[in-house]
Amino acid sequence: MIYLDNAASSFKKPKCVIEMVDYALKFLTANPGRGSHIAADSVATIVYSTREEIKKFLNAPNYDVIFTLNCTQALNLAIFSMLKAGDHVITTSYEHNAVLRAIYSIKGLEITILDCDMQNIVKNLKTNLKPNTKMIITNHISNVTGEECDIAAVGAFCKEHNLIYLVDGAQSVGHTQIDLTKSNVDMLAFAGHKGLYAITGVGGLVVKKGINLKPLVFGGTGTNSESVIQPTDIPEGLESGTLPSIPIVSLYAGVKFVSKNFSYIQKKEQNLSNYLYKKLKNLNFLEIYSKSNSKNVFSFNIKNCSDRLVADELNQRKGICVRSGLHCAPLVHKKLNTCGAVRVSLDFFNTPEEIDALISTLNEIANS
Ligand code: ALA
Repeated sequence: MIYLDNAASSFKKPKCVIEMVDYALKFLTANPGRGSHIAADSVATIVYSTREEIKKFLNAPNYDVIFTLNCTQALNLAIFSMLKAGDHVITTSYEHNAVLRAIYSIKGLEITILDCDMQNIVKNLKTNLKPNTKMIITNHISNVTGEECDIAAVGAFCKEHNLIYLVDGAQSVGHTQIDLTKSNVDMLAFAGHKGLYAITGVGGLVVKKGINLKPLVFGGTGTNSESVIQPTDIPEGLESGTLPSIPIVSLYAGVKFVSKNFSYIQKKEQNLSNYLYKKLKNLNFLEIYSKSNSKNVFSFNIKNCSDRLVADELNQRKGICVRSGLHCAPLVHKKLNTCGAVRVSLDFFNTPEEIDALISTLNEIANS
């Protein structure tokens, strides 16, 4: 099997993550924050350390980390906390449905979708600003084309115009350098199970201190239990219910692995991306939607051939796992004028040999 669907979830996990999950299943199965005994405290300590490691990795000392079940829930938490009828939000056609469906569900919210390329976002923000503009939301790296948004430029624009800036980091955290403080990002949503190599079940919102969020879920927090009113403590007030502690513990090992090896990870992924793009460019039967500077994520179609069929053939002929369809990001496909595409997404554990196997199988499919 050759796994090239890392934008959906990383598949190979570092040894330290596997060992940590094994340890956690033996010794860290109590409920963190729900009891002051040694078993609960051992988990709570690692949960706390995980927040600290994430803040360190993203240079976010003045931020809080709110754990959610996934990146979608983190984006929803940010969006439903900030936006209401009468507000105006500007976002882009690169967004995932986690952003699009959330904002379109808010009745009376004014929405502007920028249809420009990633590198022209700031120019277009200027012309679309309104007196009631409250928030800017951008993808950091597109889950369809792998194009990167200059979040520091958008952050500077938001700071200048007193706007809240929310970044969808599903495809960037763990893959590209992020400095939340320097980039003036107010909130960043991430998935644990992609570039940070955790198991599925945890994501998070990294939010600048002072920004008031509203809980998505109400309930037990392990604090102020005498009150029937939801506590406002951060992060507890925003994390009602039992935390996904085993995924969080796996994230602890994952983020430490990525931090320790980050320059090597970035270099290797860059080399793999360059190699893949060069090889794809040589196949004249392809229509390619990604660019030479795309990061890890590359979409294309074999001309006059369905994306679904190509993905199925790759799977059946050589066990090559890719994703087809719209990737839950319908507007970027509209912009690219596709009804779906084959998406290959890499991570640190891929090899040039796997890319060679993909290329030779694409050749076979195109010639059959
Ligand atoms: N949003 C993830 C993807 O792009 C699941 O595949």
